[in-house]
Amino acid sequence: MQRLENRVAVVTGAGSGIGLASVRRLAAEGARVVAVDIDEAAGGAAAKEVDGLFVRADVAVEDDVRALYEEVHDRYGSVDVAFHNAGISPPEDDSILETGLEAWRRVQEVNLTSVYLCCKHVLPYMRRQGRGSIINTASFVARMGAATSQISYTASKGGVLALTRELGVQFAREGIRVNALSPGPVNTPLLRELFAKDPERAARRLVHIPVGRFAEPEEIAAAVAFLASDDSSFMTASEFLVDGGLSSAYVTPS
Ligand SMILES: NC(=O)c1ccc[n+]([C@@H]2O[C@H](COP(=O)([O-])OP(=O)(O)OC[C@H]3O[C@@H](n4cnc5c(N)ncnc54)[C@H](O)[C@@H]3O)[C@@H](O)[C@H]2O)c1
Repeated sequence: MQRLENRVAVVTGAGSGIGLASVRRLAAEGARVVAVDIDEAAGGAAAKEVDGLFVRADVAVEDDVRALYEEVHDRYGSVDVAFHNAGISPPEDDSILETGLEAWRRVQEVNLTSVYLCCKHVLPYMRRQGRGSIINTASFVARMGAATSQISYTASKGGVLALTRELGVQFAREGIRVNALSPGPVNTPLLRELFAKDPERAARRLVHIPVGRFAEPEEIAAAVAFLASDDSSFMTASEFLVDGGLSSAYVTPS
């Protein structure tokens, strides 16, 4: 499919995981891809793979984000797709009883303030064009409580959902769509490590996923391509769950 021919697509957190798979998928669908990451080596490699542009930016820093969208606009003359995907989930973010203010704030900055900044600085370009698709990464944890908490992460993703809903409504009549993407657990290096170390503990997690496995990053990237393309032209201000049925499941002991 070539649904994104002549479109310019920005992907933050492009160097790894879901971001990297999305860079590949969006390019495969014909987009000119701008790979953004704080990690120059990983982000640069992602851009090189698809013959795209790499921009180093810390998405939690306003000057970086402003400069990013200026550069993309100067270079290509349009910004059609903005996938705001960069996020962190550090071990210091734990139960509310353990998590200090510094860890709380860092996660809010990278996961939520970054989405505010990226939307704020891409919207003026999209408004001028009268079109655009913004996709903000939330998570299934934004709608479910977990006893093994990462309190700031969960709250940050809830914030992404609420912010996305409001922007989607505000800019709908200007041809700009804003949707949240909520992945379930994805097969990343972190989860693979867990499987290798303690297969029984890892297998127990799968009990809660109706599909019986974690998502592959490519399956999340396929959803990104759909939300980026005109195939989702009547979707805005919504949450797109790609979670293998996890958030609908009530697990009973067998
Ligand atoms: N992996 C999962 O199971 C899962 C599930 C639900 C939601 N998510 C969300 O999906 C997104 C991507 O997750 P992933 O597992 O692919 O992550 P990842 O750790 O594999 O990749 C994240 C990328 O973001 C970059 N990054 C981190 N901080 C940055 C900053 N301040 N500025 C610019 N770039 C920065 C990193 O360098 C890295 O390349 C995150 O928002 C995450 O919360 C992941």
